[in-house]
Amino acid sequence: MRTLLSLAFSVAILATAPLAMADADLEKGQQVYTMFCSTCHGATGDGQGPVGKVLQPPPRDFTAGDFKYGGSDQDIFQVISDGAASKGGSPLMAPWGAVIPEPDRWAIVKYILSLKK
Ligand code: HEC
Repeated sequence: MRTLLSLAFSVAILATAPLAMADADLEKGQQVYTMFCSTCHGATGDGQGPVGKVLQPPPRDFTAGDFKYGGSDQDIFQVISDGAASKGGSPLMAPWGAVIPEPDRWAIVKYILSLKK
């Protein structure tokens, strides 16, 4: 049942993802990122935020554009929403689904992908 539910959930996300990304607001993404993510992931997304630089495993460096749990829009959205622990990763990358509204989470995905150098 649980698998079925999460499958239905994934399908729903897959179906809405292109639309959500197209509508996502890059500037909003930057604002929300700066508020919630930069202490660890760094103001420029290099993973060298004041808290981030002492963490093990380190927070992802978004300027490298290299993702551990999949680099698609949906993969990144899911890690942000459900936390890295949901993929067997670090609980320090918390689930933000209950904190940041869904359109803002898509905006962050767009912003993060724009940081790749
Ligand atoms: C307390 C520090 C901390 C904060 C705050 C934080 N993260 Fe992370 N983040 C991490 C760590 C640590 C990892 C690495 C997790 C791992 O390797 O298992 C990570 C990994 C990630 C990844 C990479 C997933 C992958 O597949 O490689 C994404 C995307 C991400 N964070 C997005 C965000 C966003 C967006 C925010 C703000 C809403 C945020 N993080 C806030 C610590 C943090």
